[in-house]
Amino acid sequence: MLRPDDIHQGAGFRRVTMEAVNPTPDSKKLAHPAPFAPRIFADTATLSDIRPLKEGGIINGVTTNPSLMKRAGAKSWNGALKIMQEIVDYMAPAPVSLELTELQPEKMVEQAKRLAGMGTNVVVKVPTGGYQAIDKALDPFTGLKVMRELWKHDIKVNATLIFNSTQAFWAANAGATYVSPFLGRLADYLYKHDQPEREPGNSLHFLEDHKAPEGGRDITANTPYVANDGLRKDSGVRLINEIVVVFNNYRITTEVLAASFRNASQMAECLLAGADILTVPAPILMGVADHPLTFEGMKAFVEDAKVFEK
Ligand code: E4P
Repeated sequence: MLRPDDIHQGAGFRRVTMEAVNPTPDSKKLAHPAPFAPRIFADTATLSDIRPLKEGGIINGVTTNPSLMKRAGAKSWNGALKIMQEIVDYMAPAPVSLELTELQPEKMVEQAKRLAGMGTNVVVKVPTGGYQAIDKALDPFTGLKVMRELWKHDIKVNATLIFNSTQAFWAANAGATYVSPFLGRLADYLYKHDQPEREPGNSLHFLEDHKAPEGGRDITANTPYVANDGLRKDSGVRLINEIVVVFNNYRITTEVLAASFRNASQMAECLLAGADILTVPAPILMGVADHPLTFEGMKAFVEDAKVFEK
């Protein structure tokens, strides 16, 4: 469990260099108490999930991906574009991340321009790496090159599928406005695949004795702090903290958009870790105002208040 004492201080200093999330209008005497609060996005492409969260003031953005589009009912690229446009229009001016599906740099830039043309609140989501998992002939730097190109065109990028702090650093260097570390997938993977006879974290090949498979290329993996420094289920939140510290060190204003949430506790831990934005599935967000003891307390207050009706 990530404890408050473990946390590197300094996230607040970093937040004040960014846009205020809750600005106080000039007409107000009572200043908003949380101007630099982290933003909360809904991680869904389903408009009926988004509506109550937006109306409740719970979210100030949305992130989507091809899997969420498919889940929302898109059966073709045109179908996906229709869903995207509805979300972009509904959420404007709050940011909506739309993910590229092309894999060739020129086509990716072309597709990014098409998506960015859907609204000034569009952020183009670019997979940071993984291209050679699809086709060995693809350039491993495809994502980073496209991010740099989009930065040149003033198009905001959300660098997605981030699993270590070096990926985050290079995405920021390429000009990404947001980086999305997938904390839930990382924690799930580490928890499931570690080999108990070796040191914890070994499934992520962070160990110095790890050798690349013959003929293969070694990859930059996770640090012992992420992979080893606590419960395996907490590795994702440690990754968020590590990226925040790295960005703090170099005054990088790329926002750390914690993604891939599995439960409500991870939200609290990401706030401790200093994330700039949390993108959370709708079912988890629907519970943010509640707690089992709040239910009990409310029932008692409402029951006792009946005396005033007499
Ligand atoms: C990030 O923006 C992704 O859409 C998302 O958080 C992935 O989450 P998952 O691991 O639940 O698919």
